[in-house]
Amino acid sequence: MERTLTILKPDCVRKQLIGAVIDKIERAGFRVVAMKKTRLTPDTAGEFYAVHRERPFYGELVEFMSSGPCVPMILEKDNAVADFRTLIGATDPAQADAGTIRQLYADSKGENIIHGSDSAENAAIEAGFFFSAEEAVRVN
Ligand code: RTP
Ligand code: MG
Repeated sequence: MERTLTILKPDCVRKQLIGAVIDKIERAGFRVVAMKKTRLTPDTAGEFYAVHRERPFYGELVEFMSSGPCVPMILEKDNAVADFRTLIGATDPAQADAGTIRQLYADSKGENIIHGSDSAENAAIEAGFFFSAEEAVRVN
């Protein structure tokens, strides 16, 4: 079993797509290990995406990610990191394969509904960003 960290981004919450997106995630075989609704501040959003600090879209990204509540989750499945990236589709929804979450629900490359960790190592770091060790214990 592998874990990945996802965030239903503020556009997902605003569009009332939390349930629709979690339905896709569960039907694809992922178990929800931990979940909460929270709101990032500009500082915490900037810290979460610090790897992109030098990129031209960083300011916009931080503003967007702190613009409203979001729903981070720890997910578990065999090959979770790669399979989840396949399920969500390309960063730009216009480039995303048919049936992927971003192709179905996202409006733009900046506001693209959902985050997925890019490695198992980063998934563990990102999980620690939102959840305590106790919250990350699967109880079912
Ligand atoms: P994520 O980290 O959110 O799962 O997205 P990703 O791996 O598919 O894409 P990444 O390159 O890590 O970019 C992080 C987020 O920054 C925003 N972005 N905007 N306007 C732009 O050109 C642009 N490029 C990236 C997106 O919200 C992207 O998901
Ligand atoms: Mg990324």
